[in-house]
Amino acid sequence: MRGTLVFSAVLCVAIAAGARQDKGKDARFPEGYTIPEKDAQMSNPVKPTEGSIAAGGKFYSSQCAMCHGKTGDGKGDLAEQMGLKMPDYRKPESLAKFTDGELFYILTNGMGKMPAEGDRTPDEKKWNVLNYLRSLSKQKEGGTGGAKP
Ligand code: HEC
Repeated sequence: MRGTLVFSAVLCVAIAAGARQDKGKDARFPEGYTIPEKDAQMSNPVKPTEGSIAAGGKFYSSQCAMCHGKTGDGKGDLAEQMGLKMPDYRKPESLAKFTDGELFYILTNGMGKMPAEGDRTPDEKKWNVLNYLRSLSKQKEGGTGGAKP
């Protein structure tokens, strides 16, 4: 009896570990796209201060708005021309399902039609723009448009 219990416990752990490694089936990403665990778990070293968000917003307007839309709604001219299906970053659920590390990885390495920034953009700038993106869904909550600290 004891032996069976221990065996079942070991089996459970093995199955759980196997499921975690099966990343090809993660519905958040295109088929076959995987992000190494250590990148996914990276945390954002840049605090979302007003300065960081403002700097991120500037960078966003020049590099990202043509696809992701001026307001983050996903209706940029280039995205429309390319017929891309884009998420609306003003909705919290669009980005909440990703960790900071996952977003940083996608921004650096690209994903499908999302272009890779690679090393041409310093890390701090990338974190600033991610702080900006996360702030888009927070500003709406107050109703009057005032950003809460
Ligand atoms: C050529 C159009 C294009 C440009 C320019 C672009 N993106 Fe994207 N981006 C995409 C597409 C397409 C996706 C994938 C959307 C999906 O499948 O959900 C994406 C995905 C992302 C994601 C992952 C989260 C998600 O919604 O899937 C982030 C973060 C992101 N983009 C940020 C940026 C930032 C920051 C910039 C500017 C530096 C930028 N993008 C420039 C097209 C673009």
